[in-house]
Parts: sequence; structure tokens; C-alpha cells
Amino acid sequence: MALRSATINVMVKAAQKAARGLVRDFGEVEQLQVSQKGPADFVSSADHRTEKILIEELSRARPGYSFLVEESGLIEGPDKTHRFIIDPLDGTTNFLHSIPHFAISIGLEREGQLVSGVVYNPVTDEMFTAEKGHGAYLNEKRLRVAARKALPESLIATGIPFLGKEGHERYLKELGAVMGATSGVRRFGSASLDLAYVAAGRFDGFWERGLLPWDVAAGILLVREAGGFVSDLDGGSRALEAGHILAANENLHPLLLKLLKAA
Ligand code: IPD
Ligand code: CA
Ligand code: CA
Repeated sequence: MALRSATINVMVKAAQKAARGLVRDFGEVEQLQVSQKGPADFVSSADHRTEKILIEELSRARPGYSFLVEESGLIEGPDKTHRFIIDPLDGTTNFLHSIPHFAISIGLEREGQLVSGVVYNPVTDEMFTAEKGHGAYLNEKRLRVAARKALPESLIATGIPFLGKEGHERYLKELGAVMGATSGVRRFGSASLDLAYVAAGRFDGFWERGLLPWDVAAGILLVREAGGFVSDLDGGSRALEAGHILAANENLHPLLLKLLKAA
């Protein structure tokens, strides 16, 4: 059974509380698909509402901690050694289209190091948690990255750049290389869940460009605590800040890195 610290419990409780509203809103979005106006404005306010609840809950339990949050940006508290990095709704496009694959993602840094992470899909009720040095869990079950050693048997997740994002041509080259070398590529639309799925051994690897810290903070810790490797796409250690990321097990990580660099 997972032995959780008080802090991760606080993060789990905040995610559960915020998720209740998000699930209600998701039900509403399903109704709005057929309306003239569409659900876009409604989704944006659901996003803001969720963020507000998370900030309220976390700052009540951990007063003074700083925040880096997708919608509100940096909120500096008197305690600069602790910082929550939050995406209140990761997988907005899925949410907007009534596709039940999205998550609340909360990472916590202590003195610049990721120490706790929570990724919660409220629809499937899958709560992924990790604490530095104490492993990664899906609900109560300990997680371990997949053991596959060869690219031809691996299933790789990715994020495809879309309208308004850069690097479409380079991405197509990378995709071509991975398509030709693996048993499949998936684009599920939530970077935090992509990383959680790598931690759970469902995906063997994940790469994406054009990401921001709140997309990956919790997921990076999940993969590392499940025994996987995470780097940026240059092979360096700046996966959180660089905006590009590669996560996989220790065998596949160097193979994928080589493949993507050569693309
Ligand atoms: C997005 C998702 C998506 C990824 C995008 C992100 P959002 O986050 O994680 O999978 O491909 O790059 O921006 O906008 O749904 O919070
Ligand atoms: Ca996101
Ligand atoms: Ca988001």
C-alpha cells in the first residue's frame, strides 16, 4: 500500500475536490456540442473555476507556497522554496469535444527540484501519484515502466503540433522516423496523461515539442519514480523548462533519442 506524505495527501484532496466541478462541467459540455454557440466559452470558464479551487485548497493547506499556474501565471508567495506547478485541465481539446481523456496535473518543487506529483483523470478515477524517492503509484498500485527493450515492439505516444504551433515540418520527419521503427504511435491529447501512461507501462515512450512546465511537471516525476528516464530532446536534463521532452525506459530512451535526432 502507498505510504503517502501529508503533502501528497493535500495535493490528492485538492485534485479530487476540483475534479467534482470539472466532471459536472464535462457533463454540461456534452449537452453544448449541439448548441449554436458551442462549448468554447463554457470550457474556458470551467478551466478557470478549476484553477481557482486548486489554488484555494492548496494555499489553505500550505500557506505561503508559490504557484506557477497555466491561467494565472506565476504567483509568488512568501515561501519561495516551494512552488506548485499546475495545469487545471490538461487535454482541453478533448474536453471541448466531449472526449473523456483529460487530467488535473499538480507538481510540487522544493528548492527547484520536483518532489511530488499528482495527475488525476476524474472520468476514469485514475489517480497517479509520485514522491521523490518513494515511487510512483496508480491509486494504490506501485508503478513500473514497461520492460520492452526493442523499438519494433514498442508503442510510443506523442503530441502533434497544431494550428498556431511551430515546427510542423520537423515534427513530420520525427513522426516518420518513429512510425517506421515501432509497433505504433498514439496521439491521445493530454501530455500529463501521456507521461502517466509511460510510468504505468502502457506506453513505452513519449515525445513532444512545444510544451510548458505545467504540462509535464507532475508527469516527469511519475516516470522517474517508476524507473524511467526523462530528458529534453537534446538529451539534456532540462525537460521541465526546455519545452521539449522524451520519456521512456532505460533501454528505449537512447534508441528513441538517436532516432529523433537523426530525423
Ligand atoms: C495540451 C495537451 C496536449 C499537448 C499540447 C498541450 P492543454 O495542454 O497536453 O496533449 O499536445 O501541447 O498544450 O492545452 O490541453 O492544457
Ligand atoms: Ca496542458
Ligand atoms: Ca490546460
